[in-house]
Amino acid sequence: MNDQTKVYPSLLAADFGNIQKDVERCLSSGADGIHIDVMDGHFVKNLAFSQKTVAAVRKVVPQECDVDVHLMMYNPFEYIESFIENGAKRISFHIEATEGADEIIEYIKKSGCKAGIAINPSTSVELILKYLDMVDSLLVMGVEPGHGSQQFIPDVLNTVKIARAIAPREKLAIQVDGGIDSKTGAECVKCGANILVSGSYLLAGSAMPASIQKLRNKQ
Ligand code: DX5
Ligand code: ZN
Repeated sequence: MNDQTKVYPSLLAADFGNIQKDVERCLSSGADGIHIDVMDGHFVKNLAFSQKTVAAVRKVVPQECDVDVHLMMYNPFEYIESFIENGAKRISFHIEATEGADEIIEYIKKSGCKAGIAINPSTSVELILKYLDMVDSLLVMGVEPGHGSQQFIPDVLNTVKIARAIAPREKLAIQVDGGIDSKTGAECVKCGANILVSGSYLLAGSAMPASIQKLRNKQ
């Protein structure tokens, strides 16, 4: 695995009237992946993107760009096949929202997609430890899921540290998602994260290339 920190803008902060333009802005600013949040209105009190968004994004990104799908929904297994068919390259689902995580991870990986497990700030890290050697990535939420522009919860750094102490960088990517800016991103990287997902900090500002560089260089 390339040792440099990777940066994935979250489309939740995009202009919903012109998502393609924002995806192109992310790509020309040097994004390594595009993060697509799927919300079911039950697991989180909000609604967002679907398989169709994934297909539309996949059409405009180059092969090397990660199409990173974050499922904030109950019963994710029911939808995983269609996300894969529509072009997801990595799918993370929440440990809090499902039973039978082993089976889901195996299915995602067998389909040639990267598998990730996601954990909320208030969930005990113990719950995901046994999956760390099965998944390609761990997504640690930096805020309670459902909305962008919230303040980073520093306690989650402990989850990142514990996971990284167990799994080296070449075995497990650790993403932190929510509340990431240049300061909190640097703290996450110091604790062992190597993918930073950021919505409002990157997309609301006009200087996305410089902001991506800032996130990437803080090691
Ligand atoms: C929150 C989403 C995040 C969100 C991050 O539930 O999973 O991906 O877009 O937004 P910011 O970076 O603004 O906290
Ligand atoms: Zn997300």
